[in-house]
Amino acid sequence: MAAATITKPHVLFVPRSAQGHINPALAFAKRLASEGINVTFIITTKLSKSAKISDCSSITIDYISDGSEEEVKEPKTIEAYYKRIKAVFSANLAEFIQRQKSTGSPAKLVIYDSTMPWVLDVAQEWGLLGAPFFTQSGAVSSIFYHLKQGSLKFPYEDSTVSLPALPTLQINDLPSLSKFMDSNQTILKLLADQFLNLDRAVWVFINTFDMLEKEVVEWMASRWPIKTVGPTFLLQQKYDKFSNQTISLFELKLDSYKEWLDSKEAGSVIYVSFGSTASLGKEQMEELAFGLIKSNCYFFWVVRSSEMDKLPHNFNSEKGLIVEWCNQPEVLAHRALACFISHCGWNSTLEALSYGVPLIAMAQWVDQNTNAKFIQDVWRVGVAIGVGENGIIGREEIAMCIAQVVGGERSIELKRNACKFKKLANEAVEYGGTSANNIQDFVSKLMS
Ligand code: UDX
Repeated sequence: MAAATITKPHVLFVPRSAQGHINPALAFAKRLASEGINVTFIITTKLSKSAKISDCSSITIDYISDGSEEEVKEPKTIEAYYKRIKAVFSANLAEFIQRQKSTGSPAKLVIYDSTMPWVLDVAQEWGLLGAPFFTQSGAVSSIFYHLKQGSLKFPYEDSTVSLPALPTLQINDLPSLSKFMDSNQTILKLLADQFLNLDRAVWVFINTFDMLEKEVVEWMASRWPIKTVGPTFLLQQKYDKFSNQTISLFELKLDSYKEWLDSKEAGSVIYVSFGSTASLGKEQMEELAFGLIKSNCYFFWVVRSSEMDKLPHNFNSEKGLIVEWCNQPEVLAHRALACFISHCGWNSTLEALSYGVPLIAMAQWVDQNTNAKFIQDVWRVGVAIGVGENGIIGREEIAMCIAQVVGGERSIELKRNACKFKKLANEAVEYGGTSANNIQDFVSKLMS
């Protein structure tokens, strides 16, 4: 008698087309594949044309258009832009699901980026289950819930805010877009829509781990079927070390920086990066450049090609190395690192914590403000630099913060705390850890 063939459950994974969303989604998707799930990772046609894709053989990559690759007249408002993306993508996703139903392995579930809640509507319309994946922290997710529900009013009214399971937050700790030209705060409203239809989700995945955000995770879990699965980039390391670069919108030029880092003493280099989208003004870039020189430390600075012309004219320092892009987890894991000057994107925050690297927080927008608050006051793994009256952080302040974090009085406490979270993050993803167990539990339910 022929042995019965076991069909692997099939999951469609729909990430948002931005590096900070793709990275954690891809790591999670690959981990699911390594647990025996058949994963189709759906990226936009535009992304498929611009990104470099490698080492994704364990999953299937497929493409859907959201219309953004077509050269049409730009809609006048952000709302109109997203409305068009949503309409085109939803229609194409519906078609994709229909086509896919007639294959030998129809999908059961769609895991989608939580900032695209309409994907759940499409999935359910075609008889599939839906589960959002939050790429921001639990704390930030909870703040967006309160914004959506109206218990937190926008524009923010009070100077301090008390929300369940969160520390008291000042206005500056809350998600904001004041530094951007989004005067109606449309993007914040769209982000609050992550909670539009969450009661219909069968699971809610968050890229965090229980010991990092225990209280707020518990609070959320009392309302929704929460599953913490982070730090997702660590989930993959066992199979695929430093896998962050496998769908990359940026080119990793000659990685001779490894030699440079290898030549430095342990704990002697400041790593500086503002992620994939944040953009500093020219004056701020200059202050940062001279602050780094003033610190007299070695520094390794990622300046994306679009930002290069903001560096001071002929900027050059024998103690500094500037690159356009790097494999960030690999750099953070290097013994030469002393601290990380970061915009506090959620991935960068998790990556720094996972390698025990203290932070200097220079938050720019949205969730980064809240992440900076937690870095400084809750986890106590870094210092946050507040902007001066003119909206600029001066070179003196930058050099002073570096001195505090590298070798200053607080440096030992910060490093100790960072190392504590490194241990906890690794425990969460290892066999028997909370994130690993949550994934196991999800996989076995999906299999049954
Ligand atoms: C954004 C938001 O800031 C973040 O908080 C949100 O939840 C997701 O999207 P981004 O601003 O790009 O992302 O920052 P971050 O979240 O830190 O993600 C950047 C990613 O790019 C990280 O995974 C980092 O490892 C990677 N990176 C960055 C590199 O691989 N190389 C670099 O040189 C710089």
